[in-house]
Amino acid sequence: MSPEVSDIMRAFEEARDQGLAAVKEATDGHSLEAARIRILGRKAPLSKARAGLGSVPREHVKTLGMLANEVQTEIEQAFAKKARAFGRTERTKRWERERVDVTLPGDVPPAGALHPLTKTIWEIVDIFIGLGYQLAEGPEVELSTLNFDALNQPFEHPSRSPRETYYVAGRDDVVLRPHTSPVQIRAMEAQDPPIYVLAPGRCYRRDELDPTHLNQFAQIEGLAVDDGITMADLKGTLEVFARELFGRDLDVRLRPHFFPFTEPSAELDVECFVCRGSGCRVCKQEGWIEVLGCGMVDPAVLEWVGYDSERYTGFAFGMGVERVAALAHGVPDIRYFYENDLRFLSYFQGAE
Ligand code: PHE
Repeated sequence: MSPEVSDIMRAFEEARDQGLAAVKEATDGHSLEAARIRILGRKAPLSKARAGLGSVPREHVKTLGMLANEVQTEIEQAFAKKARAFGRTERTKRWERERVDVTLPGDVPPAGALHPLTKTIWEIVDIFIGLGYQLAEGPEVELSTLNFDALNQPFEHPSRSPRETYYVAGRDDVVLRPHTSPVQIRAMEAQDPPIYVLAPGRCYRRDELDPTHLNQFAQIEGLAVDDGITMADLKGTLEVFARELFGRDLDVRLRPHFFPFTEPSAELDVECFVCRGSGCRVCKQEGWIEVLGCGMVDPAVLEWVGYDSERYTGFAFGMGVERVAALAHGVPDIRYFYENDLRFLSYFQGAE
């Protein structure tokens, strides 16, 4: 064996030892890859040993070439094997790190809830739907004709004054409706009797704000027009409503009142559900609580929409939603409903 051949063989052996040592030394995927590039690179001992093949006698080229390939394959396999092992441990480590326990309960987002006024409206709507009423709607920006004239409001009535009712700027014929009663007119204009409608909606009045007054509030209007409707129907209907909402065994009474669009007119009182009539703070020692305004639809109103007032009679009622909700839940100031204080609102949560 010529000295060059044994030199080259030794060079290959050394390259193999170096390569395998480098594989052994690598501590993670990164250092292993850096070592692989170094050991199998062009300036590495293995490449250098291969370069020596060019100057060996021809009869040795084959054996040395095979040795070169063997060493190269051995080193490459050692790198690949260790890389696989690193990959496995790194994956396992990452899985450990990122482990998700899918059985843990998630973060529960705070649940929303219906606003107490919305709930009150839905409760009242439910009661009247149960009695066969249909829902009706009208615009909040309303023609003063439908809001006043059609409802038999005398021309000199103070509620027509801009000090009480909001008018649209520059107009004397368009108002922000101060009550839901114009929806009666719209409903009757849209259909012939029999008519049984309930109209919840927002209203506006130029009032001083206090515990019982707001500039914006909600009303619910009711209207029934049919053959032979009497005041007994009005009382019976409102009795069912009030007992359903406030308590089944409470007394109700109609107390004479005045509205331009009803004749006769009345206010509905419910026996105080706190003291049962003996007098307390909630009913201001009266024993009764005023709930809504009502009456028999004035024939002039029926005529205005073209109904035959000789043939048809009807009743109407209108109530303030904030007032009713405050009474039902013992809320002392209706402004609370609009302050959106979560401590207040959450009191009603789940209280369906
Ligand atoms: N519109 C009246 C009010 O706002 C309530 C009412 C409605 C009275 C229907 C009688 C009939 O006070």
